[in-house]
Amino acid sequence: MHKVIFDTDPGVDDAMALLFLHHHAEIDLLGITTVFGNATIETTTRNALYLKREWNIDAPVARGAGETFIPHRVSHEPPKFIHGDDGLGNIGVPDVVDVPLDPRPAHRFIVDIIRENPGEVTLVAVGRMTNLANALKEDPEIVSLVKEIVIMGGAFDVNGNVTPAAEANIHGDPEAADIVLTATWPVVVVGLDVTTRTVMTRQQLADIRDAAGKRAELLFDLSQFYIKFYESRVPDGMVVHDACACAYVVAPELFKTRSGAMRVICGGLADGQTIQKPDHMGFGPSDWDNLPSQNACVEIDANAVLKLIHDTIVSVKES
Ligand code: BDR
Ligand code: CA
Repeated sequence: MHKVIFDTDPGVDDAMALLFLHHHAEIDLLGITTVFGNATIETTTRNALYLKREWNIDAPVARGAGETFIPHRVSHEPPKFIHGDDGLGNIGVPDVVDVPLDPRPAHRFIVDIIRENPGEVTLVAVGRMTNLANALKEDPEIVSLVKEIVIMGGAFDVNGNVTPAAEANIHGDPEAADIVLTATWPVVVVGLDVTTRTVMTRQQLADIRDAAGKRAELLFDLSQFYIKFYESRVPDGMVVHDACACAYVVAPELFKTRSGAMRVICGGLADGQTIQKPDHMGFGPSDWDNLPSQNACVEIDANAVLKLIHDTIVSVKES
């Protein structure tokens, strides 16, 4: 079993990733922590509670950061044109969801759960890295107590999706991401290099809905606005960024990785760009020296990942 904390900004593709984690037989979901990004922290937290209620998820939800690691850094408007005004494709999520929150802030929750399960927790982070950076600040020793960090974010050998240089989750809080990628805990980065190759077609999503019943109906409905956004970008369907990171946890053999130190550009034209120094390449002295080697995903078996998502979500049927 993989004990997982899911750090997320739901978010349409976040919702699919959450349903994947909830349904996968080898995942023990210990908690959901929220962060600002696809919407404000109020909205992403409300959405996490809504999905927890609608999908009968036991894991507690802890509310996380509503602003960048460095307070008052230039921050960006939520991408309402991608995820809708409500962050879940304008399906009409109620303003208030009457489900209690964990009393702890997300970074404290993360520290506590890691300390209660030394060496066992995989932290899957698919939004800004702010909660992870705050957790490291609160308790730096967690670097040696966590099993693995798997993040959706960044773009190494391809362009970004917010600017030519930067991917959204990293662009939204570059300083936090630089702290997370340079810490001495093992990180796997599932970035745009592989996620943009993983497109679920309309038909594949409809097949999941037809085979899985009520929970997948909600997933189908909330994805329609996001699919519209992707109409001019992919031939048919939607990019399932965040579910790729979850797939990595249970099926790393479907990915090829490259090892090397990573840095995030903080400020300037390329704000939020991720750059790796591959281990096998030699350079003069640089700001990549004496940092841990982390793994960037450079190849993906996209069809197998899409099948894994399908099979996992339909494995639990609900009328
Ligand atoms: C990432 O940004 C968000 O819009 C998505 O949920 C995903 O985590 C893709 O760049
Ligand atoms: Ca996300």
